[in-house]
Amino acid sequence: MRSLEPKVGDNTKPSWCSPVPAAPTPMFSKSLVVLAALATVLASPLERRVTCAGGQTTSNEACCVLFPVLEDIQANLFGNDTCGDASHTALRVSFHDAIGFSMTNKSFGTGADGSIFLFGETELSYPANLGIADAFNLEAPFINGHPEISVADFIQFTAAVSLTKCPGVAQPTFMFGRVDAKAPAPIGTVPQPTDNIPVILARMGDAGLNAQETVALIASHSIAGADDIDPNLQGLPFDSTPSTFDTQFFVETQLRGTVFPGSAGNAGEVMAPIKGELRLLSDSNFARDSSTSCFFQANVNNQQLMANNFKAAFAKMQSLGQDVSKMVDCSDVLPPVIPLPGAQQAAFFPSGTDQEDVEQACATAAFPSLPVLPGPLETVASIFQDPATDGNCDDDGSGCVLSEFPTAAKRSSSEL
Ligand code: HEM
Ligand SMILES: *[C@@H]1O[C@H](CO)[C@@H](O)[C@H](O)[C@H]1NC(C)=O
Ligand SMILES: *[C@@H]1O[C@H](CO)[C@@H](O)[C@H](O)[C@H]1NC(C)=O
Repeated sequence: MRSLEPKVGDNTKPSWCSPVPAAPTPMFSKSLVVLAALATVLASPLERRVTCAGGQTTSNEACCVLFPVLEDIQANLFGNDTCGDASHTALRVSFHDAIGFSMTNKSFGTGADGSIFLFGETELSYPANLGIADAFNLEAPFINGHPEISVADFIQFTAAVSLTKCPGVAQPTFMFGRVDAKAPAPIGTVPQPTDNIPVILARMGDAGLNAQETVALIASHSIAGADDIDPNLQGLPFDSTPSTFDTQFFVETQLRGTVFPGSAGNAGEVMAPIKGELRLLSDSNFARDSSTSCFFQANVNNQQLMANNFKAAFAKMQSLGQDVSKMVDCSDVLPPVIPLPGAQQAAFFPSGTDQEDVEQACATAAFPSLPVLPGPLETVASIFQDPATDGNCDDDGSGCVLSEFPTAAKRSSSEL
């Protein structure tokens, strides 16, 4: 272990190292403690730094293999995506893969194990995975191009990278070394928007995630939208700022619903507070059920809490069903996150709504008072649909066979 402290017998040692110090002032000894602490903090990461073939540095040689993958997906999968469709798509699939795990029933699968794609023809035919074909089409060519890492790792790594496109997230962690699935997850592992809160929490709990962690994960719906809830409309955002990991999702989901973005009567959908936005029934329930409403409301106008709780719960989710003790911490391979400017961290009521529209549900804390965004009543724009999410994998699971996916389909950034 490298240390800034002088070695025993070092004749250059400073006077403060004399065995019987001459009554140091409190100030002086405090600075010694600080110096020693600093030495410890600096020593370990410095010592374990390795340089990879491409010149990048990381804490563990095993992480070097991730840099070429990172460069490829940055340039060709995400391209210029700034927390848009490609980022959202890459994030959602990480959940649908990882949640195929149960602490009580082994046949639910091995969690974050790539089964969602490896057994795409089976898993993508499940109703809860409607729309995950987009993720398959987006990622399959790159997965085929990177056999050096497991499919499971590819899915979770790409999701972690997607977060770094979204201003407001806390710097994510990434554990590397997942083992790919030998079998598909059975039907029923992924919660659906039509499930009630006890059912969703039971499923999440069975996978190892408690109610607080589940609500923390729902922060992902701050950078999300729906393509398959309203049959005629795509890219309907869950809040007015779907390309920013801010707390608006938690504000807007608590407001009285008044309007559908399109048709009424779609399963899993309830009315939203502003035009263009879509509200999932399950999100509406998370905001209003007594078991989750206070966790939900706590995120409102609290960027730090939202970002930190999500980071922790997401890290746990990304390793469900896997042996973390056999994995390597490759967090330092991830690009730095984009900070959310201070002004954008302040939550607001969208124009046309105000405090009166809050459907208060948490019984122990008041909803924060927020300013109303000035200007006319807005219609939230739909999320632009990335053509790279269209491909030969269909919503019913047909054509979702990894090995059969043409590697040549790898898109160029000009398609963005
Ligand atoms: C636990 C209960 C959850 C339910 C019921 C649920 C349900 C849904 C539904 C119905 C959609 C819309 C799909 C579509 O029509 O295109 C969606 C989108 C999304 N969900 Fe969830 N979700 C849950 C949890 C999560 C979690 C834990 C994450 C990630 C950590 C996540 C990330 C996303 C993302 C990023 C999208 C947007 C996908 C896109 O725009 O392409 N969700 N969710
Ligand atoms: C995308 O980024 C590339 C550089 O990486 C740039 O040449 C191109 O103009 C960008 N495209 C758009 C649409 O901004
Ligand atoms: C375990 O899960 C499988 C797949 O869903 C199911 O068929 C089986 O009945 C479950 N076993 C138990 C003991 O619940």
